[in-house]
Amino acid sequence: MERYRGRVAVITGVSSGIGEALVRALVQAGVRVAGCARSSEKLQTLKQSLGTDQARFLAVTCDLAQEDQVRAFFSQVVAEWGSVDILINNAGLAFNSSLLDGTVEEWRTMANINIVALCFCTQLAVQTMQETGVTDGYIIHINSESGHMHPVPSKFHFYSATKHAVRALTESMRLELSKTLPSARISSVSPGLVETQFLAKMSGRPEQQLNVFTRMKALQVEDVVETVVHLLETPLHVQIHDVLLRPTAQTS
Ligand SMILES: NC(=O)c1ccc[n+]([C@@H]2O[C@H](COP(=O)([O-])OP(=O)(O)OC[C@H]3O[C@@H](n4cnc5c(N)ncnc54)[C@H](OP(=O)(O)O)[C@@H]3O)[C@@H](O)[C@H]2O)c1
Repeated sequence: MERYRGRVAVITGVSSGIGEALVRALVQAGVRVAGCARSSEKLQTLKQSLGTDQARFLAVTCDLAQEDQVRAFFSQVVAEWGSVDILINNAGLAFNSSLLDGTVEEWRTMANINIVALCFCTQLAVQTMQETGVTDGYIIHINSESGHMHPVPSKFHFYSATKHAVRALTESMRLELSKTLPSARISSVSPGLVETQFLAKMSGRPEQQLNVFTRMKALQVEDVVETVVHLLETPLHVQIHDVLLRPTAQTS
């Protein structure tokens, strides 16, 4: 992580799960991390838990569905820390409903966060990199295994479509970057089941303990973090496009 020590990473969705673990790892590695989520209280708890490292964590309450809040988030990062060197589009969510019983509001929310906010944050990050002369910027999308296949449980169908969009957008952005910011890189990380509150939140009961994690050893947040750190540590001439990682015990 030497290249990015002291430099600035923006990470979305850091109040829990993979995003929270990414904050801890990057801050510990000496990167200055600006993270956002809606839950201000959880952000403050995370900041305090960083102890003497907390000066390297800028916690910003931001609803990624709100364009003005996203703009304000990036403006604050640039005002306080001068630039953006890394963007990790991590925030994402799903609802427990199929295509036949889901609501328009649920679909709009998933599309807004999983696709539109990811595009908007990427646009703002790349603009900032261009304006501030960052030539080795790195964009990482936390995608999903379900962006690579058609999941059997119907409750994942719309979510899966949003993650297929992320896969398409990764390649489209790579092509755009190759013309406008040729030495910047973009990758996706596509995990299978990770032990976070994601599925419990999807069912509307974030605090519940799910049996699936006792039946099978799922990926841990640290496994995803290690993959992200590996990407950031690769030499500048290496562009890893997508990393698909699954729990070994996963059979489907
Ligand atoms: N867990 C899995 O099995 C799994 C597998 C494959 C891919 N993924 C992907 O991994 C990423 C992280 O998920 P996770 O498992 O770590 O779940 P998580 O613990 O539920 O984290 C999701 C994060 O997104 C944030 N978020 C949601 N809506 C937001 C909004 N409108 N504005 C700002 N932040 C928002 C949440 O914060 P607030 O609620 O505080 O806003 C939270 O910090 C997602 O993109 C997910 O699709 C997860």
